[in-house]
Amino acid sequence: MNATTSQTTATPMLEIRNIKQDYHVPQGLFKPEKVVHAVKGVSFKLDAGKTLAIVGESGCGKSTLARILTFIDPPTAGELLIEGKTVDTRPGHLTAEMRRKVQIVFQNPYGSLNPRQKVGDVLGEPLAINTDLSSAERRDRARDMLKKVGLAPEHYNRYPHMFSGGQRQRIAIARALMMNPKLLVLDEPVSALDLSIQAQVLNLLADLQEEFNLTYVFISHDLSVVRYIADEVMVMYYGEAVEYGTREEVFADPKHEYTRTLFAATPRADVESIRARLARKQAGAGA
Ligand SMILES: Nc1ncnc2c1ncn2[C@@H]1O[C@H](COP(=O)(O)OP(=O)(O)OP(=O)(O)O)[C@@H](O)[C@H]1O
Ligand SMILES: [Mg+2]
Repeated sequence: MNATTSQTTATPMLEIRNIKQDYHVPQGLFKPEKVVHAVKGVSFKLDAGKTLAIVGESGCGKSTLARILTFIDPPTAGELLIEGKTVDTRPGHLTAEMRRKVQIVFQNPYGSLNPRQKVGDVLGEPLAINTDLSSAERRDRARDMLKKVGLAPEHYNRYPHMFSGGQRQRIAIARALMMNPKLLVLDEPVSALDLSIQAQVLNLLADLQEEFNLTYVFISHDLSVVRYIADEVMVMYYGEAVEYGTREEVFADPKHEYTRTLFAATPRADVESIRARLARKQAGAGA
């Protein structure tokens, strides 16, 4: 995760322009429906291999944005570009190629894995649907991926309930990587895990990013995590991006009152322990 430079000329991996999302909520038989403006015109650019952290309190629109970025929901308005090309996000217009490039990892690995599917089938399924690979080739790829995410090939025949929360999240990450995506949107991927397990999964994500030159949009409400993983930071507040810049800029000089309050509320010890871990990791990598 290198420091970002403001003068990069390469085409961004991901760009969104003035993205909006309204939800229409029925209020009952004789009442007009209520409109929730969940995302109110958000724009950013993200270069390949970088991590943008999106942070903000519950209900500020983070998951709504994640669903737009991963084509689950088309936005009410705005433009989304992948590698400089505008994506037609209307239902039925998305190409298989585009769908392959962008994958999502959710917070809850319990809910996102089918309990009746063996791990090997969880990982092989995207290949079975999207490729002509034989079942033997699919099995080999799945076993390789299990190793890459720190699990054992013999885990192939086990069911999700036989794994811990951290291992399950590794499986969810492995599944997301099976089609060689370029962009991963991670919606609170470590929030449900114990602190020590969080660190392991964050380290895994950092290693995978380097190995596959992955671009991450990492959603979190935990600033100590953000400080560890982000190249760039966007702070959302009631559907708007109230802060956007490099990690150094945002942490050194938060502009918005909300960000200052958010920073003040973060336990100092967390930040310090993450920093120490980062320093140890960098020292190890440089040796
Ligand atoms: N399907 C939906 N229908 C109506 N309103 C919705 C829907 N999904 C989200 N909302 C509303 O949109 C706003 C943004 O929700 P969203 O889930 O994106 O927030 P979030 O930042 O991910 O919150 P959290 O940190 O709790 O996950 C909230 O006011 C939420 O109630
Ligand atoms: Mg959410």
